[in-house]
Amino acid sequence: MSGAPLAICYGTRPQVIKASMLIEACATRWPVLTVDTGQHYDYALNQLFYEQLGVRKPDHFLEVGSAAHAVQTAHVLTRAAEVFEGAKPRAVVVIGDTNSTLGCALAAVQLRIPMVHVEAGLRSNDRAMAEEINRRVVDSVADLLCAPSAAASAQLELEHQWGVVANTGDIAHDVLRRNLAKAMAPADVEGWPLARGEKFAIATLHRAELTASAESLTAMVGALRGLPLPVVLPAHPRVRAALAKLGLESGGMLHIMSPLGYFEMIGAIREAAIVITDSGGVQREAYWLGTKCVTIRTETEWHETVALGANTLVSPERAAVDLGPTVEKRLASEGKWDNGAYGAGDAAVKITDAIAAME
Ligand code: UD1
Ligand code: UDP
Repeated sequence: MSGAPLAICYGTRPQVIKASMLIEACATRWPVLTVDTGQHYDYALNQLFYEQLGVRKPDHFLEVGSAAHAVQTAHVLTRAAEVFEGAKPRAVVVIGDTNSTLGCALAAVQLRIPMVHVEAGLRSNDRAMAEEINRRVVDSVADLLCAPSAAASAQLELEHQWGVVANTGDIAHDVLRRNLAKAMAPADVEGWPLARGEKFAIATLHRAELTASAESLTAMVGALRGLPLPVVLPAHPRVRAALAKLGLESGGMLHIMSPLGYFEMIGAIREAAIVITDSGGVQREAYWLGTKCVTIRTETEWHETVALGANTLVSPERAAVDLGPTVEKRLASEGKWDNGAYGAGDAAVKITDAIAAME
């Protein structure tokens, strides 16, 4: 295949996961140039997903690493711009709402390169979250906005965005559908702390807001330990470090372990009695897999999961009091809901079609 390449940018764990199918679908039509910003760099947050999901080595690895928002975004912006100036891509595709998304998107539009935003139109309406700012800024300058749901697409139309809006469905659903047969039974996962068949909750927590104060993290751990079933927490390195500092790494029925691979994680979500999370991706995977979910946030941009009864929000400030009763109520409730709100799992093809239509 010849002609200018299509650049696909990513940099964090969930973006590598989503890029796995996007790269493949786009490569059927154009030469693809892949750019990993290096926002996530630990093996367990980056390379592991390349290996499991068959993602080829990136053409460019920007090595931005960890830093304050301004510094991280600036490094992504300047280094991505250098790559785009050299490669002259026909368009740049960015995914989600991270600092990597923002930096690559700005680099593209400043160079007048058409920019495609995958996961457009999501709104939590929480101005305090860096991600809400990132996604709004990227949506406002994108040439093509690929929305994961009808509601996200309607939101973009309501906002009269400059770019063309396409309701493509959620690419995370494509990845889950393709890989579900490879999901691992939790008891087969190395280091799994429970016996085969033992009932458990799976928890993930990684938001900056949670680790910002010792009090909030201590209260959260207390709330998890007070639940009526064992809780397995594959901890993001930031949370792991904060827990270690407070001496909160072990005790009671809360089992903290290293981050899981994708096959291990979707297996754990599928088999868990309940999911407790602040992750966007994990909320939807619980929803698709029919596992009850409690989200430790005051709002979510994945409104449909709450409206359909799959997901219940608990505010982080109220977790010490509200988490226990909410989990007990959800465990005792019926767990069935319609899971078609984010498309049929064919988003990669629809995104590719939408990009082709833009040319
Ligand atoms: C980032 C995104 C968030 C996304 C998440 C996906 C932003 C503002 N946040 O959050 O939207 O949901 O990725 O997982 O872009 N660290 C390591 N090793 C790594 C990466 C990070 O130890 O490989 C530690 C560092 O101490 C770092 C901290 O984790 O300062 C936070 O990393 P960062 O990428 O800034 O934010 P995330 O919480 O991972
Ligand atoms: N995930 C994983 N191992 C873990 C935790 C999460 O493979 O230990 C996967 C999860 O199944 C989902 C994605 O990572 O596909 C979600 O990423 P994360 O929670 O880091 O970010 P968010 O979705 O909130 O942006």
